[in-house]
Amino acid sequence: MDPQIVVLAAGKGTRMKSSLPKVLHKICGKPMIYHIIKESLKLTSNIAVIIGHESETVKNALESEFDNLKFFLQDLENLPGTGGAVKSVEITSDRIIILNGDMPLIRQEHLSRLLEPESDLTIGVIEAEDPKGYGRVIINNGEIVKIVEEKDATEEEKRVKSVNSGVYAITRELLEAFLPTLSNDNAQKEYYLTDIVEFAINEGFEVKPVFVDERSFMGVNSKYELSVAEDIMQSRIQKDLMLNGVTIRSPKTVFIEAGVKFEGECEIEPGVVIKGDTFIKSSHIKANSVIEDSKIEFSVIGPFARIRPKSDIRDSTIGNFTEIKKSSLKGVKAGHLSYIGDSEIDEGTNIGAGVITCNYDGKNKHKTVIGKGVFVGSDSQLIAPVTIEDESFIAAGTTVTKNVKSGSLAISRAPLKILDGFYKRFFGNKDAAKK
Ligand code: UD1
Ligand code: MG
Repeated sequence: MDPQIVVLAAGKGTRMKSSLPKVLHKICGKPMIYHIIKESLKLTSNIAVIIGHESETVKNALESEFDNLKFFLQDLENLPGTGGAVKSVEITSDRIIILNGDMPLIRQEHLSRLLEPESDLTIGVIEAEDPKGYGRVIINNGEIVKIVEEKDATEEEKRVKSVNSGVYAITRELLEAFLPTLSNDNAQKEYYLTDIVEFAINEGFEVKPVFVDERSFMGVNSKYELSVAEDIMQSRIQKDLMLNGVTIRSPKTVFIEAGVKFEGECEIEPGVVIKGDTFIKSSHIKANSVIEDSKIEFSVIGPFARIRPKSDIRDSTIGNFTEIKKSSLKGVKAGHLSYIGDSEIDEGTNIGAGVITCNYDGKNKHKTVIGKGVFVGSDSQLIAPVTIEDESFIAAGTTVTKNVKSGSLAISRAPLKILDGFYKRFFGNKDAAKK
């Protein structure tokens, strides 16, 4: 029988000092709890999530990513605490893994390790450098005696560095015996799941520690810890990518979210940020470019380019200070200082420096369509909706307010006047350079 995995996600996360429920705070672009469920699903499809604080928000966030999760609502008022959370779940397997929803670095292999010992209760124990904030695991002659929460610990207990990671593998028999005995006789007046240790020992159940690494089992309770966990996950993401053939220059300056996918040989230069649901194939992303929710294939992007969501760029060169949004570019050169939004641009077209697609009229967004082999001169404005057909020529500085037919020239310029001798008439005889 597959184990049941129970993820505790009903807490508020007061220490995050945020209106967003703790488990929805993001790490590398996805909520903490997303990472946990993704790894859990590799082990079993039997997953229960305990919700309570902002329950609908948490449920909706998870339902948008996963099917078939079972949700249970905790009575936070009458049964607060991690024990109260577990009391609200329906147990559906003989072996249950319980994990806190704030440990985003856990992986499937770690969960499997917890199932290895044939004991009634297996606890993931961290030998922490700084045990602060964790429940201390009191071990005597190699045997776990109890878990004491920091707020209930004596000074001597606080010095203990073996701490509870918040992951447990428990038999149905033990859990069903323990839950009716829960009490809230402690400093926080909460029902602690961790009391299960003393209960198990007193009732003759077997309890075993599995020693685990804090880099994979850390709990996130504050925005500082969120940043520590995110750094660890970022290094993992980049290592996986590099081992799969992506070149990353100066990795510490690069940020790539968990949902980003690469194919072929790619190179990422320093300072690049790649977010969301982005796919990059055989491309070179130069320094300090930002790419979000887009598809980039066989292209060179940047330095200092910004590719906003829903862009689809292929066989193209996008240069510095060019911003592209919701546009499809195939075989295009846009080298400098442009804004291209809600556009479709076809093969062999050159977008000059400073070209702007004016896609927004103050009320609505409109489309710009540019065909093949078009030359769009520098500093042109294309007032959308507008279509520029194949092999047409837009002169520099033109404001295009009408569709341009294939093969034609569009030019709008105020006539240039040159007044001979103006400088001296204006400044008189003084030497302007010395002014
Ligand atoms: C908990 C453990 C502590 C352990 C630490 C590891 C208890 C009593 N303490 O402390 O021993 O060292 O995790 O990170 O279990 N939750 C609910 N309902 C609640 C309260 C919390 O579902 O009523 C959920 C939270 O959403 C969170 C998880 O349980 O995902 C842990 O809660 P948290 O408040 O972070 O517990 P810690 O104080 O970190
Ligand atoms: Mg915690």
